[in-house]
Amino acid sequence: MDRPRALVTAPFRGEGMDTLQAVADVVYDPWIEHVPLKLMDGEKLAARIREEGADILIVESDFVNGPVFDLSLRCIGSCRGDPNNVDVAAATKAGIPVLRAPGRNANAVAELTIALMFAVNRFVVPADHDVRAGAVYAEGKIPYQRYRAWELAGRTVGIVGLGAVGRAAKWRFEGLGLHVLSYDPYNPDATHHDDLNGMLAECDVVSMHAMVTPETEGIMGAAQFTAMKPGAIYLNSARAMLHDTDALVAALQSGHVGGAGLDHFKGENLPTDHPLCAMTNVVLTPHIGGATYDTEANHSKLIADDVVRILEGDKPVNCVNPEVLA
Ligand SMILES: NC(=O)c1ccc[n+]([C@@H]2O[C@H](COP(=O)([O-])OP(=O)(O)OC[C@H]3O[C@@H](n4cnc5c(N)ncnc54)[C@H](O)[C@@H]3O)[C@@H](O)[C@H]2O)c1
Repeated sequence: MDRPRALVTAPFRGEGMDTLQAVADVVYDPWIEHVPLKLMDGEKLAARIREEGADILIVESDFVNGPVFDLSLRCIGSCRGDPNNVDVAAATKAGIPVLRAPGRNANAVAELTIALMFAVNRFVVPADHDVRAGAVYAEGKIPYQRYRAWELAGRTVGIVGLGAVGRAAKWRFEGLGLHVLSYDPYNPDATHHDDLNGMLAECDVVSMHAMVTPETEGIMGAAQFTAMKPGAIYLNSARAMLHDTDALVAALQSGHVGGAGLDHFKGENLPTDHPLCAMTNVVLTPHIGGATYDTEANHSKLIADDVVRILEGDKPVNCVNPEVLA
């Protein structure tokens, strides 16, 4: 068998890169190094695969569709938990296994969740702004008067969605001395399976970690924000589609929700005149939860190990269409 040749347009590093290079010639051109942003569609990818003579494709953000499936590929690796950048149905029809990288960014997102929680609770962003603006003394008060908070150790946090990120957040919250509740109808380990509002009523912090599905879209609406404890903090490092943004804004404006930390917005952006942008008790980050080098090392290892399994005729662990290998 010819030595395989892998076109890798995902960031790829660490042990996974060593593993891949041991079994294949690697053409490495990660999208993340391109400024301005360069993402390929099926046409461009197919042309590039042909040009490089590749028979393995590993992507993270390029769109794998159309003419890519006319090529003879041994496998396609999508360095994401959900390989929604690959037309899996077309890959299956073409007999090409598609690999994914579940849980690659669980620790990264959990760490940002903790960062958002403390930033919101201890007014880190407005306090930083005061120092930079030379406004340490404001409204006739010193900062110690303006920025007091309740400590979080001993308080209760409720996790909505106890999957890879939810579990990675859980032990961190526990390590910080919080009592952890969790709502997840599909996870036997959760403390709540059918009473979201009941859990919300017990929590000083609510942290969203569910996948977006028809069932979870808008799962946090006006009734849920009302069910939360007065003054509780709302964190969403998952997806904005999980909440009704207008209801969240109203709950923050009324003071019923005490603050929020958000890492995602519908359309990946917020207009600068959005009410959330004017709220000093809200911390906003632009979908950077998974943005760590470790995430890249994790997905590299998961994908490379499965590529080796395929090349050796073994069953890959994270293949979304294993029927093509039967
Ligand atoms: N901010 C970022 O950069 C970033 C990065 C990675 C993932 N995410 C998001 O974080 C979330 C969790 O990702 P993950 O990798 O842990 O996914 P996962 O699939 O491991 O976990 C999702 C969990 O949601 C649960 N769930 C399903 N329906 C539910 C319902 N009706 N109510 C409550 N829980 C329900 C599932 O049982 C599962 O335990 C997703 O929304 C994902 O898009 C964000």
